[in-house]
Amino acid sequence: MNNGSVGIASTGCYLPRRVLTNADLEKMVETSNEWILERTGIRERRIAGSEETVSFMAEQAARSALTRAGIDPADLDLIVLGTFTPDQPLPASACLLQARLGNTRAPCFDLSAACCGFLYSLEAASHFLRSGRDYRTALVVAAEKLSAVTDWKDRNTCVLFGDGAGAAVLTRDSARGRIVDSYLGADGRSSALLEIPAGGSTLPVSAEVLAERKHYIRMEGKEVFKLAVSSMATAARTVLERNGLGPQDVAWLLPHQANMRIMAAVAKALKIPVEKVYINVDRLGNMSGATIPIGLAEMDAKGLLKPGDRLLMVAFGGGLTWAATLVQW
Ligand code: ACO
Repeated sequence: MNNGSVGIASTGCYLPRRVLTNADLEKMVETSNEWILERTGIRERRIAGSEETVSFMAEQAARSALTRAGIDPADLDLIVLGTFTPDQPLPASACLLQARLGNTRAPCFDLSAACCGFLYSLEAASHFLRSGRDYRTALVVAAEKLSAVTDWKDRNTCVLFGDGAGAAVLTRDSARGRIVDSYLGADGRSSALLEIPAGGSTLPVSAEVLAERKHYIRMEGKEVFKLAVSSMATAARTVLERNGLGPQDVAWLLPHQANMRIMAAVAKALKIPVEKVYINVDRLGNMSGATIPIGLAEMDAKGLLKPGDRLLMVAFGGGLTWAATLVQW
């Protein structure tokens, strides 16, 4: 268990301007607004333009969080960027973000944990800050441009995803947003349920890869659905139980927003009323790792988190990976 002296000093987010509605998707693939709404809860999502790269979106989210905390980007001691859609394979997009922010000294790295990208990154950065070394202020961002790896001819997946970025500034001894505990897990044996088969070193991009559309996300939705519910519920319960807490002690549940039905099932399994579940999947779709920090920034901006409130964040995604993080505001 963590002896949390690290906290979330501020948050920020960035959403691309372009909105893609279910009506727009009806013109692209064999689908309907009714099907998408009923099976996923999604009405619309944001799609990044060519200038809205992952490092650009990350920079906007980061600047918003840094301004709120009154922290100069030059003073950051660490930058962690959760993403599996980096601007390019080399260098890490975290380095591109560092350059955009004008910071010349913070170590930077990307962290690939799909939908758990933010919670994994938060945990990694927390340990740097707790190490006792010279890490006092960390920037944790999760940014995804899923539209770039979405097969716009596959109705099983293209109706689900959106683009965006969310950021949090972590400081030692922050008066707010204390990270109380975090539980991370993974099972690589089921990785093929959710993958981009090509574009890496095993199957580099080639004419054949492009023809077979292997450079896009593929997902066994039904299997992933079941595992998402059970893994998120178990991770959340683990964190609550080992801190001697029950569902009544949670002010807000912020789950990864893959599907309205998954979130409802997780809340039910945890006995947390659905009114305490923060939801933005209807407006933004599934933005993988960016989903949770964007939800957090929205909650923060709306003043939904009161001092002392316990916020439970829980995620599940490609890898397979899962994570739950408890924060006391
Ligand atoms: N429009 C219309 N019909 C569709 C669409 C669509 N967009 N997509 C699928 N269908 C059809 C299917 O072809 C199928 O037809 P069939 O019965 O004739 O074969 C039927 O609808 C039902 O399909 P199911 O797969 O049973 O639909 P389901 O209720 O499972 O919903 C969904 C599919 C939304 C993908 C769901 O399974 C899901 O949300 N899965 C989990 C997603 C998730 O959690 N991902 C993890 C994070 S993502 C990340 O890490 C990047």
